[in-house]
Amino acid sequence: MSNSPFISNCTADAIRDAALALKAGHLVAFPTETVYGLGADARNPEAIKRIYEVKGRPTDHPLIVHISSLNQLDKWAIDIPEYAIKLARKFWPGPMTLILQRSEIAGDFITGGQDTIGLRVPNDPIAQALITEFEKISNSAIAAPSANRFGQVSPTSSADVFEELGQYLNDDDQIIDGGNSAIGIESTIIDCTRDQATILRNGAVTKKDIEVELGMRCLENSENPNVKFSGSFEKHYAPKCRIIIDTEEIAGAGFLALSDVETPLGMVRLASPKTTEEFARILYSTFRAADQAGLVSMVVFQPKGEGLTVAIRERLGKAAQGR
Ligand code: TXA
Ligand code: MG
Repeated sequence: MSNSPFISNCTADAIRDAALALKAGHLVAFPTETVYGLGADARNPEAIKRIYEVKGRPTDHPLIVHISSLNQLDKWAIDIPEYAIKLARKFWPGPMTLILQRSEIAGDFITGGQDTIGLRVPNDPIAQALITEFEKISNSAIAAPSANRFGQVSPTSSADVFEELGQYLNDDDQIIDGGNSAIGIESTIIDCTRDQATILRNGAVTKKDIEVELGMRCLENSENPNVKFSGSFEKHYAPKCRIIIDTEEIAGAGFLALSDVETPLGMVRLASPKTTEEFARILYSTFRAADQAGLVSMVVFQPKGEGLTVAIRERLGKAAQGR
């Protein structure tokens, strides 16, 4: 994958070509509005095996299957509760993944042997076009984890994907360029296999959004000790440099905070997002910039309050725990 790795001209031909590559068992990294995904045919065990190899990810960690619309839902899932349909109608296409009981066509090799499956309809136009085209020619869908090495920072541009995975990809694999991810952090994951919706990972669809839509309380994983969530006990989203939260004045450290927070003396300001949305959008690229600058540590003043800030603090907490 050494020469001209990015497909940036997303004509109908290019999308068709990428769909054909998926059909032939190759990998296609593609943009979504959350982060870039590393896609493969969700019904091809060999192709899925390569996702795990390229990511360096343990095979008991399940993958999210990306479908084009709500109409594909009952192909991949069974026993879908009414509240899950409500959420899907409201927030798809968008930054939300639903965990449901899997159907027969969802193999052990995508679910990590679990009897549940993660499903998402992304909103990004290139993702939409690719998934739709692939469904047309394959009677399948696109399984895709974030396109980074296991435990590392998710990519929010095609260049990030190449930096993470370029050396592990083959000449027949592709990376589709769709600019910078609009949201910048991964989708909200909601377990819909029990009586009440349970958030397993926070994201741009917030707890309040869910509760307003459903008219009932939504649990969080910590409130429900029965839910095991792979990945939740490990280091994740971590750059090489040490992330330190809400601590002042470490001379020479990188610094990230909302624009109304002044830079403490002696620190290297890396970004000044004006809003929570911008904070989420630039978070991972700022981690990468800190590593590229060779910084040993980076201090982050967390945005406070509810909504998207919850997801930002969740990622920062894991990144800080990583070192
Ligand atoms: O925004 C996103 O969700 C991105 C884009 C590419 O769609 N994808 C993403 O995938 O973040 P990944 O694999 O990096 O993270 C998905 C998380 C993993 O921690 C996985 O364990 C969890 O979702 N997951 C997937 N299927 C699951 C299931 N059946 N039960 C519980 N957790 C599941
Ligand atoms: Mg990931």
